[in-house]
Amino acid sequence: MVTVRAPATSANLGSGFDVFGVALDRPADIVSVERAEETTIEVTGVGARYIPEDPERNTVGAVARALDAPAHIEVDKGVRPASGLGSSAASAAGAAVALNELYDRGYTREELVPIAAKGEAVASGTAHDDNVAPSILGGFTIATPEGVTRVDSDLSLVACLPDIVVSTRDARKVVPETATMDQVVDTVGHAATLVAGMCRGDPDLVGSGMDDPLVTPARARLIDGYEAVREAALDAGATGVTISGAGPAVLAVCRDRTRRTVAETMVDAFVAEGVDAHAYQTRVGAGATLYDS
Ligand code: HSE
Repeated sequence: MVTVRAPATSANLGSGFDVFGVALDRPADIVSVERAEETTIEVTGVGARYIPEDPERNTVGAVARALDAPAHIEVDKGVRPASGLGSSAASAAGAAVALNELYDRGYTREELVPIAAKGEAVASGTAHDDNVAPSILGGFTIATPEGVTRVDSDLSLVACLPDIVVSTRDARKVVPETATMDQVVDTVGHAATLVAGMCRGDPDLVGSGMDDPLVTPARARLIDGYEAVREAALDAGATGVTISGAGPAVLAVCRDRTRRTVAETMVDAFVAEGVDAHAYQTRVGAGATLYDS
């Protein structure tokens, strides 16, 4: 048996829609695989009852097919489905790394990214690398059709998950189809600032680089309390706040000394809007990790 811990991730970071992603130190999915004649799947943990165990409809089933690696696959969900924290990507990434090891397929971590993305497409409708890339590689990742660029970074983060569900399919329907040149220039400036901030491990640069005039305002309407939570987090010392992936989780960049206050403030702000929430105090983390068998 091979067991892998695959971390949650936060995609987009505002200005990097469908391109940027970051691995979170926590939460994570645990994926265990054993060779079998045909693929069977067992899902436990957070939100397991919403996840189909039919290999044709499950992200990890698609990964097993892509790797021609039939197995009994156990997925212990730590990342809630439809959270904006890369739940299906964490399972797909964990399965790709585990099955590659189990069957000694010899793919590099970079080569496993598009394979895991095929699995994620089963859940989200389209294949994005912006969650699977950081879940497999760790750190901050820039995923483009040409490949993935990875940057090591160390930043304190809060991922605050409200007790509401926003599906990626619904969140993609509200994304504007066009942008003005002013919006493009604004987005490029912020995205470039964010990358510089990641390279320097500078929370102020990363935070200011998360501003996005296009996708985030359109999606904010799907998250009850988003603006109030954002304002509260910034007042509590966060250097930047945006929607995590397709939402509803909200990601805040902060410093170690402000992280606890930012986390508590975000939960309180959601609760004040009538929405229960849980905050993960986390940081930029490592990619999928193999456990010793
Ligand atoms: N970049 C994607 C989105 C992440 O925001 O829709 C979710 O797969």
